[in-house]
Amino acid sequence: MLRTLGIETSCDESAVAVVDGDGRVEVSLLSSQIEAHAPYGGVVPELASREHLKALPYLVDQALESALGPVEMVAVTAGPGLIGALLVGVRFAAAFAWGRRLPLVAVDHLEGHLVSSLLNLDGEPARQEPDRVLALVASGGHSSWYLMDHGSRVRLGRTRDDAAGESFDKVAQVLGLGYPGGRVISELAAKGNPDRIKFKRTYLEKSGFDFSFSGIKTGVGRYIELNNDQIEHQAPDIASGFQESVVDVLSYKLLNAAAVKRCNHVALVGGVAANSRLREKVATAARQKHVTVHIPPVNLCGDNAAMIAAAGFHHLIQGRTSALDSDVYSRIKQ
Ligand code: KG4
Ligand code: ZN
Repeated sequence: MLRTLGIETSCDESAVAVVDGDGRVEVSLLSSQIEAHAPYGGVVPELASREHLKALPYLVDQALESALGPVEMVAVTAGPGLIGALLVGVRFAAAFAWGRRLPLVAVDHLEGHLVSSLLNLDGEPARQEPDRVLALVASGGHSSWYLMDHGSRVRLGRTRDDAAGESFDKVAQVLGLGYPGGRVISELAAKGNPDRIKFKRTYLEKSGFDFSFSGIKTGVGRYIELNNDQIEHQAPDIASGFQESVVDVLSYKLLNAAAVKRCNHVALVGGVAANSRLREKVATAARQKHVTVHIPPVNLCGDNAAMIAAAGFHHLIQGRTSALDSDVYSRIKQ
């Protein structure tokens, strides 16, 4: 029963969790830096590192206190992400592991998101990974597809420009709704009509695996420029029309990719998977096609350390651990 301490500091959220050997999430804590970055309209890397340094000791203390037993290994995000922010997490984790003579496992952030679809926050063990799953990671920094086949992982495609979450953030910015934009846009969209203002759907090749979100963001920007005097009362319809366009593309492509790759399991992970319209649309489309959908609970869609702990545990049981001077990386690996 290897209980894992997970640490995640790849961007602007300090997260610490404890997950047991059956994948039960015992504690999952998050300290958001939104307020620190808000005056700058986006994430300031230097500030992110400092905030992680401040938050980690408290979060780790609290997590160890709430855990159901002693931790026996440490898993930490090594990349991709902000170098300074990652270094804070990795060095903290290495020092903790060294001080207690525990094994350390460096984990890829995207791999963490991929594992998250198997986790829950109900105190239940994690689900077994199906043999073949088509998984979409849609977050603020990444939008990529993976075919997970008997433990191997192949990236099938990615966005050619903005990530899906980034398009929510940018549309929120032009609507003056602040950063990050995903949740505010989806709340506003719920008050609007998705059919009143239609934005173009960019499918690229309809059956292909790449996607593009910069066109829709530009379309919304242009609409706002042309209708500047009516934006205030049109904002819910703009948010709703924009959201519907992104959701249509993501859900169509996910189910289409599953059919092309003959997968009857799909997973939807990353911050954008918290979007209720997307969850609903993917679930309905999957039901019609007899495909099983795996989506994490809303609180495990965005960055969290439970997914890092769970991914680290899989490495350790396969005999893979990391050196205490293990390095970090900024760019996506595969
Ligand atoms: O996975 P995540 O926490 O961080 C990255 O790895 O990037 O994802 C954050 C992204 C942000 O762009 C945020 O606006 C988006 O997820 N997001 C949402 C929602 N909640 C968060 N996008 C759409 N609808 C939401 N409800
Ligand atoms: Zn993430």
